[in-house]
Amino acid sequence: MTFITSALDTGGPEYREHRSAMLDKLAALDAEHAKALAGGGEKYTARHRGRGKLLARERIELLVDPDSPFLELSPLAAWGSDYQVGASLVTGIGVVEGVECLITANDPTVRGGASNPWTLKKALRANEIAFANRLPVVSLVESGGADLPSQKEIFIPGGALFRDLTRLSAAGIPTVAVVFGNSTAGGAYVPGMSDHTVMIKERSKVFLGGPPLVKMATGEESDDESLGGAEMHARTSGLADHYAVDETDAIRQARRIVARLNHRKAQADPPLAAPPTYDEDELLGIVPGDLKTPFDPREVIARIVDGSDFDEFKPLYGTSLTTGWARLHGYPVGILANAQGVLFSAESQKAAQFIQLANQRDIPLLFLHNTTGYMVGKEYEQGGIIKHGAMMINAVANSRVPHLSVLMGASYGAGHYGMCGRAYDPRFLFAWPSAKSAVMGPQQLAGVLSIVARASAAAKGQPYDDEADAGLRALVEAQIESESLPMFLSGRLYDDGVIDPRDTRTVLGLCLSAIHTAPVEGARGGFGVFRM
Ligand code: COA
Repeated sequence: MTFITSALDTGGPEYREHRSAMLDKLAALDAEHAKALAGGGEKYTARHRGRGKLLARERIELLVDPDSPFLELSPLAAWGSDYQVGASLVTGIGVVEGVECLITANDPTVRGGASNPWTLKKALRANEIAFANRLPVVSLVESGGADLPSQKEIFIPGGALFRDLTRLSAAGIPTVAVVFGNSTAGGAYVPGMSDHTVMIKERSKVFLGGPPLVKMATGEESDDESLGGAEMHARTSGLADHYAVDETDAIRQARRIVARLNHRKAQADPPLAAPPTYDEDELLGIVPGDLKTPFDPREVIARIVDGSDFDEFKPLYGTSLTTGWARLHGYPVGILANAQGVLFSAESQKAAQFIQLANQRDIPLLFLHNTTGYMVGKEYEQGGIIKHGAMMINAVANSRVPHLSVLMGASYGAGHYGMCGRAYDPRFLFAWPSAKSAVMGPQQLAGVLSIVARASAAAKGQPYDDEADAGLRALVEAQIESESLPMFLSGRLYDDGVIDPRDTRTVLGLCLSAIHTAPVEGARGGFGVFRM
């Protein structure tokens, strides 16, 4: 019997407490998402609409198949920075004429849709996703180009945007650009490097230099239309493959282009799967407000996998890491989930073995994070915790099956790496509002700093100010705590979004479907030298 039997007491006080803490965090998250949705605010939105233009998300909505989902990525990009939440760009995965595409849309209501350093990071991440999963890219363009005051941060690295477009094309991954407005200077290379282009009558402006710049450079008198209008590009320069009369016509033509791409998924979609037996809504009440209290990840697995059916691997060995096989929306997955927080030698060895098995069988891996890291202390160092942790990290780093990571709770220290943190290139990484990630916990970090400062003072023969130390500790703790939170980390593009736990199965299902556009092939060898 491989059906998970839940022990979650949904009538108990703990469940109610966890649930209410999670709902509070979700309300705070909604408020931040609303900022991204509001774009440049009422004034610029009204001006944009007054020009008879659609908003970025409205363009996307018309582009994707009716009633199909759009998995928006990194909506909190730029959170906590000087720039507008969302980074003046919308990115995500949507289905166009039955084809899963990576869609990007500039938000022209935010500083003319200009790209700041976070816009660039977000756009490059979108390209990475398109590459890894072989998703056609549809760019809905209307941008003032580089955000000029921050040009030093984006000009040189920004060249990668155009490089990526042509590399995608070279890899046989189609690229489509629909130009709704300004796409000048470097921006002109978005249509310039795309396989297919659509331009709109009296709307598209695609030129290397506008009339003032041309006047300055050569003295020539010109105007927008003759330099870079849709009609000119469709009839004269040949940069426009398709001439649209308005925005909706352009979107209709983009849909026709995608319909004719003959883009096929490497693996057919699995048949409709049974939902989990347990209610996904109950995912709200599992993670404790205080992450020091452990929780059983099987309760989470039972609410995200098909039929709550889970074949556990080595359940009696290395019990602080739960590993096993399941299906999620019909796709086979191997799951690694932290159970007690700490990773010991046995857990690390178990993980390395499990990851190798998934690679032999071409099964994607799902990492459910709640770890404070690898165990420290004399007994564990002598027992070889470094080499066993290294073994797990080696397996994760060289594994070739697609990885999905979800930060449910803690994701600290090298545990974040071993569980396929951002630097280990999971195909997608999402966080729950309850997640926290940093080099270590805030109290531990502040405590370490204090011990080091005290020792340093003693070495110099100086007295140590205990009062100042307590103040400093509190300050450091507060700073590290705020830098560990999901919105802060999402703002820096360290995940692909902060999600409602109740949406986990849906989000992972959409990701798995996108992932299977490319072949899923594990590593048969090619791991680093395992220290035994
Ligand atoms: N960098 C920084 N800020 C920019 C910007 C850019 N590239 N483009 C526009 N903005 C700002 C504007 O200063 C304005 O700010 P404000 O409202 O606080 O005054 C806001 O964004 C809206 O711009 P506005 O010109 O009013 O909007 P528009 O919709 O009428 O025109 C553009 C949009 C993009 C056509 C126009 O702003 C423009 O030509 N920008 C410069 C384009 C350029 O040459 N970029 C360099 C490319 S490398």
